[in-house]
Amino acid sequence: MVMSIDGAYSVAGRSAGLSSTADHELFLAHRNGADAILVGAATARTERYRRPRPDPEAAQRRSARSQSPTPLLVIVSKSLDLGRDTPLLQGEPPNPILAHPATSDTAMAPEGLELLEAGRSEVDLHALLAELARRGVNRVACEGGPALLGQLARADLIDEYLVTLAPRLAGGQDVGLLGGLSTPTRDYRLHAVLRDGDHMMCSYRRIRA
Ligand SMILES: NC(=O)c1ccc[n+]([C@@H]2O[C@H](COP(=O)([O-])OP(=O)(O)OC[C@H]3O[C@@H](n4cnc5c(N)ncnc54)[C@H](OP(=O)(O)O)[C@@H]3O)[C@@H](O)[C@H]2O)c1
Repeated sequence: MVMSIDGAYSVAGRSAGLSSTADHELFLAHRNGADAILVGAATARTERYRRPRPDPEAAQRRSARSQSPTPLLVIVSKSLDLGRDTPLLQGEPPNPILAHPATSDTAMAPEGLELLEAGRSEVDLHALLAELARRGVNRVACEGGPALLGQLARADLIDEYLVTLAPRLAGGQDVGLLGGLSTPTRDYRLHAVLRDGDHMMCSYRRIRA
């Protein structure tokens, strides 16, 4: 996640105004290291998500680590409405997974995505991650947005938290990387810091008793 120094996660509705070249490279590196990418449907819609496509070198590094050449994209949604013109329908397999609760109207789902039921009225993130683990997916990179990240934090499912501080006051209402959700207090230790000009990229790891 990237945020302004006043805690905003978007500028004019998008995160692009906060990122930097190095932040984007780091984003890609983490994405390419993951077995799966997890994202909330609002972010997939707003940021016009596409299927991940690692460059040949990254795909080779993945194969050397016995990972599939491409990380699996998993989108969490209740509405199953990604928009008629979603770019997610185009591109090479594997098809993205649309994780949804039992109460979702599956007729709303676009064809060409795999449906995965997890939970009754909301996607149960523990159940979803357990099912992904059964499929050999162990390292999951969540790319937000805050509504989804807040639920992961509430369920204590965030082992490593990566945040870039953008040197900007952005104001507005889109503030708080956990979407304003009440979560129990959790402790993390600073694992690594990178500086790119005035951007600062930090990795925090969960302290578990
Ligand atoms: N600064 C950054 O690094 C960063 C990163 C990512 C996103 N963003 C920004 O964040 C904003 C979007 O984030 P957001 O917090 O509004 O939304 P979000 O977390 O991306 O997505 C929320 C949506 O995900 C689905 N969802 C989440 N949890 C669910 C659950 N347990 N069960 C079923 N469905 C669930 C629902 O989709 P349906 O509506 O389809 O039911 C819900 O409306 C955008 O402005 C984006 O640009 C910023």
